[in-house]
Amino acid sequence: MRPRTVALTLLVLAVAVGFWIVAGRFSSSSVPGAASGRTPVELVEIPMSSVVSGDPFMRNVAAEPGSVHVALVASAERLELIDGVTSDVYAYNGRVPGPTLELAEGDRVTVRFRNELLEPTTVHWHGLSLPIDSDGSPLDPVEPGEEKLYTFTVSAGTAGTYWYHPHPHGETTSQITKGLYGAVVIRAPDDPLPDSFTERLLVLSDNRILADGTFDLTEPTTVQGQMDHQNGREGDLLFVNGEITPTLEIRSGEIQRWRIVNSAASRVYRLAIEGQTFLHVGSDGGLFEHPVEVDELLIANAERVEVLVRGTGAPGSTAVLQTLPYDRYMPQTRPEDWDQPRDLLTLRYSDAPPVTPEAVPEVLRPIPHLDPADASATREIVMAQGMINNRLFDMDRVDVSAPLGATEIWEVHNVVGMDHPFHLHGFQFQLLDRNGVPEPFRRWKDTVNVPKKESVRFIVRFADHPGKWMLHCHILDHEDQGMMGILEVTEEE
Ligand code: C2O
Ligand code: CU
Ligand code: CU
Repeated sequence: MRPRTVALTLLVLAVAVGFWIVAGRFSSSSVPGAASGRTPVELVEIPMSSVVSGDPFMRNVAAEPGSVHVALVASAERLELIDGVTSDVYAYNGRVPGPTLELAEGDRVTVRFRNELLEPTTVHWHGLSLPIDSDGSPLDPVEPGEEKLYTFTVSAGTAGTYWYHPHPHGETTSQITKGLYGAVVIRAPDDPLPDSFTERLLVLSDNRILADGTFDLTEPTTVQGQMDHQNGREGDLLFVNGEITPTLEIRSGEIQRWRIVNSAASRVYRLAIEGQTFLHVGSDGGLFEHPVEVDELLIANAERVEVLVRGTGAPGSTAVLQTLPYDRYMPQTRPEDWDQPRDLLTLRYSDAPPVTPEAVPEVLRPIPHLDPADASATREIVMAQGMINNRLFDMDRVDVSAPLGATEIWEVHNVVGMDHPFHLHGFQFQLLDRNGVPEPFRRWKDTVNVPKKESVRFIVRFADHPGKWMLHCHILDHEDQGMMGILEVTEEE
């Protein structure tokens, strides 16, 4: 036992009354591979009373620097999601979206999670590199009334914007729809973007809510149900951080850094502000090597972007962030209003005189090059409607097996007439090409939209974390219907 562990254990023993002590559902003996970067499990004292209902952040109760101990509860609540109407929701720590988890590279993180719902759930940390025990996949449900410790160390180089959501098999759509989703922000010690850029987190989601406040979750026997089944469920209410068309303040000349999470079940956002461009600086796995100027941002569901918004408007003026039409559908199931732009939020310029914009660094950070010459296998993943490689999800089947440390090229083909966003758990990858056209620059991704009848190739290295990892379409209805498979990363004997 290392001295730190001894000290912590003594502390835990000393704090006898008023605190819960949890050892989690696994013991240290069931967590092999500490050498491969796994966090050794130790007794952690995280009082459930540290949950502040409605708090926008998870509150870190760890005393020592470099440790993050937070408590998270999923429970049924009654909240006003739209003005004047209350809904029976599922909430993390009493709010929708759930509280943001703020981390730094190198942090040793323990989340004490309690399921107060009347059904099994999980907490999946989308995009994070962590041990399989803490992935919160469908293989690892937390039963009603039970607790689980999610434990991991934040890897170097993974600073970026991520999110967490439930992943119980067959019930992911309904649980996320009812309100279980939240953001994770990981910071780097050497972040190249100036602190003076005002940072904003925009968690995007959509929903359909009936007049009485109930969620319009359909049965596949209805016409709308068939549409939801095919397209993935979309809603006419567009939420930004749980609000409909909120207003954000900006000052003329100011540069803001926006982290955007698409946590919608299936909606693809195509973001634009009329008359202005964005500096796209990052995606799923963090910052690019260089900023890229773009007119619009296409964000498939589960993807994230980091972007710099430059306040080019005049003092006192307003601008609107819209989502423009994007045709991801089969022609026969396109929603009626799919071709209409929708307002997401208003950007209001203060009356203050313009400030001189700060310089944006031209170099952000180096991204290691994964070399196709190192690939030991090339895999074909074929996405057809509802199936991957012609099969439905089976928890007891391994679809792809790869040795720990292997570098592989995956070719993901979409053979049908609607888009499917492909997601791999546990490992960030680099796109090589789309339909044979090389990607213009390197970036880390964990989710990639594969448009109708198109193909994408990416390279990935299973550097750490053996175990059974999900690969799936991130249209939640498709995932629930079984458009999912298992990659097993095996440790050599
Ligand atoms: Cu966003 Cu399988 O996950
Ligand atoms: Cu995931
Ligand atoms: Cu799909």
